[in-house]
Amino acid sequence: MSRDREIILDDETSAVLDAIAAAPDDPQAAFDAANLTRQEIEAGLQFLPPAQAAMVAEYLAALDNTQSMSPTVSTAGTLRDGFVYALRDLYDSEKQLTKALGKFAKAASSGELIAAFASHLEKTHGQIERLEQVFEMLGERVRGKHSEGIAGIIDEGKSVMEEDFDHATMDACLIAAGQRAEHYQIAAYGTLIAWSRALGLPEAAELLEETLEEEKAADTTLSKLADSGIIDAAAEMWQDPPDDSEEAEVSTKAKRAGQAAAAKKSARR
Ligand SMILES: [Fe+2]
Repeated sequence: MSRDREIILDDETSAVLDAIAAAPDDPQAAFDAANLTRQEIEAGLQFLPPAQAAMVAEYLAALDNTQSMSPTVSTAGTLRDGFVYALRDLYDSEKQLTKALGKFAKAASSGELIAAFASHLEKTHGQIERLEQVFEMLGERVRGKHSEGIAGIIDEGKSVMEEDFDHATMDACLIAAGQRAEHYQIAAYGTLIAWSRALGLPEAAELLEETLEEEKAADTTLSKLADSGIIDAAAEMWQDPPDDSEEAEVSTKAKRAGQAAAAKKSARR
C-alpha cells in the first residue's frame, strides 16, 4: 500500500496496511494475511500516521462487530502463536543443554566422548543465536519458556551420574542421555521447520534446517561412539570386572586423554 505513506514504516506496520488494502471488506482475512495477532496490531497503532491509525482502528471495530454477530468466529490463538510457543520451548531447551553438556563431559571417561560433548556444546551456542534470529524475524521478544521435556531428560542424565557405575557403563549411559536430548530436539526442529514453511517463513526454515543437520550429526556421532567400543567395553566390564585400583587407573587415564583431546581441538580453532 503506498497512499499516504508519509513516514518510513517498519515491516510489521507495513504488513498490516498492505493486508488491509488487499482485503478491505474482510478485516479477519486482512489480519490473517498480515500474520499478526490483534495485540501486535494494537501495539503498532501508535506508529501509524493519524489517518492510517484511524483506518486500522475502524477495521478493528468492524472485526469486533463481526465477532459479536457470529459466535462461531474463533478468537483462539493461531498456528503462528503455536509456532512462537514451540520456539520459546526450544530456546529454553538449548539454554538448559548448554549447562548439561558440560556436566555430561565432566562425568564421561572416553576422550572421544568428552570431545563430542564439548564440540556439541560449542555448536549449541550457535544454535541459540539462530533461534534469536528467528525471534527477530517474527518481531517477537527473545524469550524462553521452561521446557519440561528437556528438563526431564537432563534430570534422568544427572541421576545416572550419581550411580556407582563402572566408567564404560557410565559412558554408555551418558551417550543414551545425550541421544535422548538430541532426539527431543530433532523432533522439535522438524516440527518448527514444517510450520515455518506453512506460515510463509522460508528464511526461518532455512536457519532451523541448519541446526537440525547439526543435531542429526551429533546423534550420529554418539551412535558411532557407542558402537565403536564403548558398549563392548561396558559389556566386558560386566563379564570380567577389574579390581577397584585397576579400574580407577583406567578411568583416570581415559579422562586425561579426553581432556587433552578437547584442549587440542579448541586450540586448533
Ligand atoms: Fe541443540
